Amino acid sequence: MRETKTIHDLKEEMKDFFENDNWRGAINYLCDGEHKPLLLWPRPTNASIDFIDNHLKRHKISKLVSLGCGTGLFEWIIKTAIRGLTVLGVEVDKDWWTSAYAPPVFHQLNYPDDHEVKEALSSESTALLFCYFNCEPAWRQYLTEFKGTIVFVCGPVEGSGTHSNPQPFQPLTPEWTLIDGMKMEKSHDAVALYVKI
Ligand SMILES: C[S@@+](CC[C@H](N)C(=O)[O-])C[C@H]1O[C@@H](n2cnc3c(N)ncnc32)[C@H](O)[C@@H]1O
Repeated sequence: MRETKTIHDLKEEMKDFFENDNWRGAINYLCDGEHKPLLLWPRPTNASIDFIDNHLKRHKISKLVSLGCGTGLFEWIIKTAIRGLTVLGVEVDKDWWTSAYAPPVFHQLNYPDDHEVKEALSSESTALLFCYFNCEPAWRQYLTEFKGTIVFVCGPVEGSGTHSNPQPFQPLTPEWTLIDGMKMEKSHDAVALYVKI
């Protein structure tokens, strides 16, 4: 019988990529074989990282705040791939994430009341990322606080059997316009870009 790998086993398998800043190796590892949602829900591709990078550069964005970053693996990949970009990973429940039972993390976690998070949300040179976010009142509240003009939404496309809220190609709030998006070819995931016009 096949044994189920724990998140600690998966992190050990990723050790070399992580220690050598080998984000492309990490992406291949996530895309090959079985899905590893304990590490990261989407299966990002090089093209999806280019998509994020190109839009950040086009809009002169220097900071990305990822809400609901979980283990922070996607945030580590993005930060490592896109030189010069500051990436904040935000989670809730600091007591859990700093407890002995918490999963290992790949990127420093911040929490909604942290000064850095408040400051980043109030800056026009910040972009937001919701990756497999799952709490509608919370994303609406983040968008109310946010003073920037760029939001990425990553999640499953319709019919994939998994769910996120927001979803990549669904309307956010009326002031946000969907201007671009792409499917990640190794999975049923997509990343979409919304702009406040
Ligand atoms: C399905 S997980 C996605 C984790 C990761 N982004 C991924 O794609 O693998 C959603 C995460 O959002 C977090 N979350 C829920 N409400 C939140 C809030 N108000 N602010 C920040 N994170 C929140 C949860 O704790 C959870 O870790």
